This record gives sequence, C-alpha cells and structure tokens, in this order.
Amino acid sequence: MVNQFNNDTKSVHLFSGVEIPCIGFGTSQIANNQIEDALLCACREGYRHIDTADAYGNEESIGKAIHSIGIPREELFITSKLRNRYRGYKTTIEAFERTLERMELDYLDLFLIHWPANRKKFENWDEINQETWKAMTEIYKSGKVRAIGVSNFLPKHLKSLMETEIPPMVNQIEYHPGWRPTEITDFCHGHNIIVEGWSPLGNGKVLHEPTLIDLAKKYGRTPGQICIRWCLQNGVLPLPKSVTPSRIAENIQVFDFEISREDMNRINDLEVMGWSGLNPDEVEF
Ligand SMILES: NC(=O)c1ccc[n+]([C@@H]2O[C@H](COP(=O)([O-])OP(=O)(O)OC[C@H]3O[C@@H](n4cnc5c(N)ncnc54)[C@H](OP(=O)(O)O)[C@@H]3O)[C@@H](O)[C@H]2O)c1
Repeated sequence: MVNQFNNDTKSVHLFSGVEIPCIGFGTSQIANNQIEDALLCACREGYRHIDTADAYGNEESIGKAIHSIGIPREELFITSKLRNRYRGYKTTIEAFERTLERMELDYLDLFLIHWPANRKKFENWDEINQETWKAMTEIYKSGKVRAIGVSNFLPKHLKSLMETEIPPMVNQIEYHPGWRPTEITDFCHGHNIIVEGWSPLGNGKVLHEPTLIDLAKKYGRTPGQICIRWCLQNGVLPLPKSVTPSRIAENIQVFDFEISREDMNRINDLEVMGWSGLNPDEVEF
C-alpha cells in the first residue's frame, strides 16, 4: 500500500485490483443545468473520475452528460453514494438500483455508504451499519458495482466491517489543509483502505491562508494546487469541485511538481481551519 503518491501516480489500485484515478471531480452543489458544461470541461481537461451522490440531486443529469459526452464507459470511474434514509439491507439494494436507473448505467465503479449510522441517532448503530454493509456486499457480488466502500466512517464505525467477508475498499472523508484526521487515515492505510478527501480546498475557505499563499508563490502554483498536491503526497485522493473552467483545469494540473518534506510539514502543522463542523459521530442525519 502506497501512502504517499509521487508524480507518476495518476491512479492507484484498490485491494480488489480495480484502478481508480487519483483525482476525482466533485459534483456536490453543481446545479443540474450546469452539469453538462462542467463535466464536458472536466473530461476535456483529463478527469475520468466523477463523484456524485443520491443526496446531491444530480445523478440523472450526470448520467445524461456522461452519455452525451461520448467517452467510452470503461474509461470513466463513476462513484455514487447511498442516502442516509436508505440504510438497512433491503432499502440499500433498492436505492442502488434506483441510482443505476437514474444514471442509465449498467454498473457503477464505486458505491459508498454516505454517512455511518452513529450512536447519537441510533442505539443499534453498529447493527444498522452491518446490515447496510451486507447489502453493499451483495451488490458487489452481483457484479453491478466494481468496488464498495464507505464515507465519513471513523475507525469505531469501521471496526465491525473489517471482520466481514469483503471489507470496505474506500473511505471518503473530509480532508484539507487545516483538517487532517490522522487517526482515520492511519487506520485506513493500515487496513488497505483507500482514502478519498472531500472538500480538498476546504470548500474554498482555506485558500487565503498565508502559508498556502506563500507556498503557492514559492512553487509558482495557486493555493488550490498546493492543497490538491498536499492531499496526494499524504496518500489521499482529492475530489475538488468547480464549475469554473480555469479552476477545473488548474485543479488537475498537479502532477509536475512536488512539495518538499519540510513544506509538507508546514501544511500538516496548520491550525484547524475550514472544517465543515460535521463530526460523523455527532451529526443527526
Ligand atoms: N462524502 C461526503 O460526505 C462529502 C461531503 C462534501 C463533499 N463531498 C465531495 O467532495 C467534493 C468537493 O468538496 P466541496 O465541493 O465541498 O469543496 P472543494 O472542492 O474543497 O471546494 C469547492 C469550492 O472551491 C471553489 N474552487 C474550486 N477550485 C478552486 C480553485 N482552484 N481556486 C479557487 N477556488 C476554487 C469552488 O468554486 P467554483 O465552483 O465557483 O469554481 C467551490 O466554491 C464535492 O463536490 C463532493 O463530490 C463529499
């Protein structure tokens, strides 16, 4: 398991053997009428990994855009996620089928449980997560998804799933300068789980931080590129979102420079900033 990606690492393999491009295109809060232009631009710039979710309300437009852009399906890596209200065995299987129907796809590349059931909302949270995972495993075995995983799971939520027939292959978590949850990344990397980073730019809120601006100047890059490169060098797959063509382009142009160990440490050591405030063990959804 590689925990730090170098410039030649444009994709990595999940433990099941499936290849996943290191940078994914985030689509949360991209309105349906903006999806086609955004995806067209992203695909032109070289993105092949698209991240959506039932909860984003844009699966259908993404499906349509994928079909109209005309990139062969097998060249794309498409992720969607289970909406919280569908946790549980039967409801998970039905929700997955609806995602495929909405996107008009025969298969997904990755399906994730969007958020764990947690102790704040459910007394039997672990049981619910295990039931949901059983359904994820069935879906995987059916061949309609090439990989399965979770999102926003803390080690305590992952623990019982690690003892199942097919443990999670991916955990997608909040990850950006000013929010580096090493307890989760260490656990995942130690158990062959690929970590994806959501809000790699802190939802745009960390880009004015002086250290990042300083390093952007030093490397002749933008603060956004520093954030994305930093994720990769920490072994985390970033999922930047943008609807702005110039930003979509710059966010994937990060494979031709390297941040020194010393500068990585400067970013690693930044105080907490840009955090969404969403603690997976405390949220009430
Ligand atoms: N699993 C989960 O629970 C979860 C939660 C949140 C997000 N996600 C995933 O992660 C993706 C990314 O997260 P995010 O959308 O919260 O935030 P993000 O990618 O960290 O930041 C997006 C914001 O930054 C701006 N931006 C993008 N590139 C920029 C650049 N180079 N320079 C300056 N500003 C830039 C965007 O504006 P414009 O669009 O106007 O350019 C947008 O306002 C989501 O789209 C979604 O796919 C998953």
